[in-house]
Amino acid sequence: MDLKVDIARCSAELDRLAQFSDVPAPAVQRVVFTETDLAARAYLVGLFEEAGLKVRHDAVGNIFARWEGTDPTLPLVATGSHTDAIPYSGKYDGTVGVLGGLEAIRTLQRATRAGASSPPAPRRSIELVMFTSEEPTRFAYGCLGSRLLSGQLPPDAAAKLTDADGHNLDDVRQRAGFTGPLADVQLEAGHYAAFAELHIEQGPLLERANLDIGAVTAIAAPAALRVRYTGPGGHAGGVMMADRRDPLLAASRLALEVDAAARESGSPDTVGTVGVLDVHPRAVNSIPRDVLLEIDVRDIDGPRRDRVLERIKQKAQQFGDELGVPTTIEMINADPPAKSDPAIVAAIEQSCADAKLTHQRMVSRAYHDSLFMSLVCPIAMIFIPCRDGMSHRPEEYSSPEAIRAGIEVLARTLYQLAH
Ligand code: GLV
Ligand code: MN
Ligand code: MN
Repeated sequence: MDLKVDIARCSAELDRLAQFSDVPAPAVQRVVFTETDLAARAYLVGLFEEAGLKVRHDAVGNIFARWEGTDPTLPLVATGSHTDAIPYSGKYDGTVGVLGGLEAIRTLQRATRAGASSPPAPRRSIELVMFTSEEPTRFAYGCLGSRLLSGQLPPDAAAKLTDADGHNLDDVRQRAGFTGPLADVQLEAGHYAAFAELHIEQGPLLERANLDIGAVTAIAAPAALRVRYTGPGGHAGGVMMADRRDPLLAASRLALEVDAAARESGSPDTVGTVGVLDVHPRAVNSIPRDVLLEIDVRDIDGPRRDRVLERIKQKAQQFGDELGVPTTIEMINADPPAKSDPAIVAAIEQSCADAKLTHQRMVSRAYHDSLFMSLVCPIAMIFIPCRDGMSHRPEEYSSPEAIRAGIEVLARTLYQLAH
C-alpha cells in the first residue's frame, strides 16, 4: 500500500496547537479545563470534523473522533493520546499521538479513496481518542480520562478530586461543558478490539541506536505519594535554634532519601523524583509551618517499586518523628505495569518492514493512557526518537521526518488491525 503522509500539514498543526499555551514559547503549558485547554480542544474538534470524523465527548471530557469502517457493527480499533501539557514543557508530548493519529486517519482516507485500484476501506471503524488530563498537574492523578474509561477510578472518588484552589473535578468539568454522570464514562467490555498509541520516546535510546521506531512491549509501573509535614512556624530571628521544629528539615531529609532509595533498589530501572515541594508561608523571615512533597516512583518491576515505596514511607514517618513535626502520608496512586499485546507488537513490526523503517523492541519508562487502555483491550505503543531524549521541558523536539515515520507506521498498523 502506498501511503502519503502530509507531514507539512501535521507539523503546521503541531505548531498551531503549541500556541495555545499559558507560558511564553518555546515552553508550553496547557492545564486541563483552563481557558487555554478549552480553546485548544475547540481547535482540535474543528480539525476532526474537517476530516469527516464523527465527534463525541464523554462526561470527563475525553473526545472521540470516529472514521466509520465498512462494518460499523465490529468492535473498533482506536488510537490517540493527550494534549494537556505540564508547566514549562514542550510541544510534542502527547500531541504527536493526537495530531499524528488524525494524520494517520487522513492518510488512510486518501489511500483508500483514490480509485478502483486502491486498497479497500477498513472494515472496522477507527477511532481517535483524546484523553482528558493524562498529566497529573491539576488534580494530582495522571491518566484521569483513561482511568475512568477503564473503571480504575471510582466515579465518586473522581468527582471529589480537588485542585490547588480548592475546586473539585465535578464542578470544574461541568463548568467546562462536560456534563452527565461520571459513571457513564467507563467503556463496555469489548468496545475496542485494539488500541495503538503513537508517542515520542521521552528517552535517548532510539536516537542513540539511530533507529526510526520503538515497538513498546511494556509500560513501567508508576506511583505517586504525598507527604505533609507541619510545625509551629515562627519568627526567623526570634526563635532560637534549640527551640525550633522545622518541617522543611524533615522534607529535605526525605528528598535525599527518595534519591537514595531509588539508586539502591538494585536496578537502574527504578527512578524516584520529588517534583513538588511547597513551603508555606514562603517568607524569608519566617520558619516554615507547612511543607508538602509529592514524590514520583517508577519501575518496570512492580514489587521492586513497592519495596522502594515502603522504604520511603517508613523514612518519611521516622524523619517527622525525629524532628517532632506531625506527618501525614498519602498514597495518590500505585499502578501496576502493563504488557503490550504480542499481536499488535507484531503488526507494528510488520508495518516498519513495509515502510522500510528500522526499529527495536523497548519498554516505556514514562506512563501513558495505554497503561489504562490495556485493562480494556489489547494495546501497544509506537515510539519515535526525540532529540537528546529530552521531554517535559521546552527543548523537547522530534523532527518532521521522525514524526512522519511514526505516522506511517501508525497508519499501517491501524489498517492491519482494522481488517
Ligand atoms: C507522563 O507524562 C509521565 O509522567 O510519564
Ligand atoms: Mn507528559
Ligand atoms: Mn505523554
